[in-house]
Amino acid sequence: MTTPQDIRTIGFIGAGNMPRSIIGGMVRGGYPADRIWASNPSTPKLEQLENDFGIHTTQDNHALVAACDVIILSVKPQLMKEVCADLKTNSPAISDKLVASIAAGLRFAKYYDYLGENTRVVRIMPNTPSLVGEGVSGLCADRKVTTADRDFISQVFDYVGLSIWLENEDEVDVLGAVAGSGPAYFFEFMHGLQQAAEALGFDPERARAMVQQTALGAAKMATDSDLSLIDLRKQVTSKGGSTAKGIEEYQSAALDAISDRAVRAAVARNQEMAKLF
Ligand SMILES: NC(=O)c1ccc[n+]([C@@H]2O[C@H](COP(=O)([O-])OP(=O)(O)OC[C@H]3O[C@@H](n4cnc5c(N)ncnc54)[C@H](OP(=O)(O)O)[C@@H]3O)[C@@H](O)[C@H]2O)c1
Repeated sequence: MTTPQDIRTIGFIGAGNMPRSIIGGMVRGGYPADRIWASNPSTPKLEQLENDFGIHTTQDNHALVAACDVIILSVKPQLMKEVCADLKTNSPAISDKLVASIAAGLRFAKYYDYLGENTRVVRIMPNTPSLVGEGVSGLCADRKVTTADRDFISQVFDYVGLSIWLENEDEVDVLGAVAGSGPAYFFEFMHGLQQAAEALGFDPERARAMVQQTALGAAKMATDSDLSLIDLRKQVTSKGGSTAKGIEEYQSAALDAISDRAVRAAVARNQEMAKLF
């Protein structure tokens, strides 16, 4: 538990899985629960949040805006226009608050369109490992957002992993393609290793256990080390040994080029999807 440096009243509009993880991380990390709000149309998720974390909840988005300094928009992208239009009309004070959104794909221009040109907006791209406190959140602020606002938002998303500031919206698309989609790429690769072990006689349970612990150990070594990823790889690849033979197979299939194509394809799709909303 750490002492939060900046305490503001923060409210999440939409109380789904991602806000639940962020709220859980904040409360466990020492952020005062009575300075956190969540709003949602139906009550079961609100009741759970209240019971588990002791935060304030409401079914009224306007009550939340009135109570909070920082609003995190956490509804599905397709609902954002309707939710923001209602806030702009019935809670005009929102234009003086710091607004952040975790919705995938929606660009700054849309928020200005929905909430007014003067709104201070931060776009946030969290990824699913935030659910287990090991997320990566890409943060991108518009020019009206102050240094103190940025520090506050970093503090919030550091509770569920690593937060990285992004220079512009193109970088949001790239972070989405690497860190947002990345867990799926790692699962695909891990599944391939599991299948290879099974093809050579391992039962699925032991094959999976061996693969997932290897992934965890490799990620931890990479996190703890100052060496480059290539140097770490070389450290476990003796010349003429069995790992070298395996690596030769990956290199002959141009794994680097596959990763490059995969990320570019995902960036292109992020750009296409941004036009849908
Ligand atoms: N989950 C992830 O890993 C992830 C990663 C990156 C970004 N995101 C973004 O996070 C946002 C939320 O995702 P999620 O996974 O938390 O979705 P979710 O579980 O479907 O939650 C959305 C919540 O919004 C509520 N809602 C609907 N209409 C509302 C309104 N008018 N006012 C207030 N709340 C309303 C829904 O309530 P009811 O259930 O009562 O309808 C639901 O609880 C999305 O924009 C998504 O793009 C999610």
